Amino acid sequence: MAEQTVLNEAEKTAALAGAWRRGTKIEFRGEDEFHQCWYPVALSSAVPKGALIGAPFLDGRVIVYRTSDGVVHVKSAYCRHLGADLSVGRLVDDRIQCPFHFWRYDSTGACTEVPAGDPPPPYARLFSYPTAESLGIVWAFNGETPLHPAPHFEQGASESALMIDAFRNPLPMHVDSSIVFLNSFDLQHFRVVHGMPIEVDLSQVREHENTLSYEARVSTPEFGDVIQMRKLWGVNTVTIASETKGRKLYLMHSLCPVGPNATQGFLVNATPADCASDGEGELRALLAQSRDYSLRLVNEDAPIFDTLSFRRDNLTASDRFLAHGIRYVRQYPRAHPGREMIR
Ligand code: FES
Ligand SMILES: [Fe+2]
Repeated sequence: MAEQTVLNEAEKTAALAGAWRRGTKIEFRGEDEFHQCWYPVALSSAVPKGALIGAPFLDGRVIVYRTSDGVVHVKSAYCRHLGADLSVGRLVDDRIQCPFHFWRYDSTGACTEVPAGDPPPPYARLFSYPTAESLGIVWAFNGETPLHPAPHFEQGASESALMIDAFRNPLPMHVDSSIVFLNSFDLQHFRVVHGMPIEVDLSQVREHENTLSYEARVSTPEFGDVIQMRKLWGVNTVTIASETKGRKLYLMHSLCPVGPNATQGFLVNATPADCASDGEGELRALLAQSRDYSLRLVNEDAPIFDTLSFRRDNLTASDRFLAHGIRYVRQYPRAHPGREMIR
């Protein structure tokens, strides 16, 4: 593995300051708009019943909470009275209670109670993001109506039959999420940065309802020669199904914009949980190996993304798939329906 450049604190600060303008040479989203994707906002394990947490989202902030029926909700974070951050409040009888003057909001986002006795103003309503939960992740869709299902593994891989390891990338990246997403299309870098020769038959790439699927023949130091069935969801998530030593292995990497040119990654490794042939210890060892593999890739990319000033200057023949990816990202629908509420 090539020796890595690790930024010191001063360099990191300089890179962060530059992050406000880095990547503006290519327009992936309109001013004030973000792609209409399912974005990962929290690990399911971070939101047990009755929990209320805050999370950065797009160019603002949301709350994530779980009511007593087990359903998880994602809403704009700021109270419609004077703007208190509701994640500092409490959940009372499944309603969010603002920490400042105790206004309460129900699960539709409507304010239902003003303790001072005034009628709740009709405009006092939080923005409710379409919310889903799969693969150990809480997802919020940036739009009024989802354009595709929330990410999951291939049909037949029922979640209850999987052993799942979901975690956050410990290092947020200082780059636009779509540029990290393009990594999947960048075949040149797999060989040299990750030591993974890769082949993709571009004639077999299938596009369907804002997802894109293809087969990749990859050689990895960890798992040898494997065929990966890759599916790209929106412009922020990749799921990969492969087989190693006769056992199915699933991976997911999903990206959430959390500020100007700032991206938080969430990763999942999974394998069927049946222990008929392998003991539980072996399955856990396989998932640990897969976690190390995914973190290796993320860490190898990190110093490049933290300093990249993305442009599309001189693509070569080996960049055909990347050119396809850039077009795909540019044409992807964008919106920002929660704009006024989350910031
Ligand atoms: S700011 Fe929330 S009730 Fe006043
Ligand atoms: Fe990479």
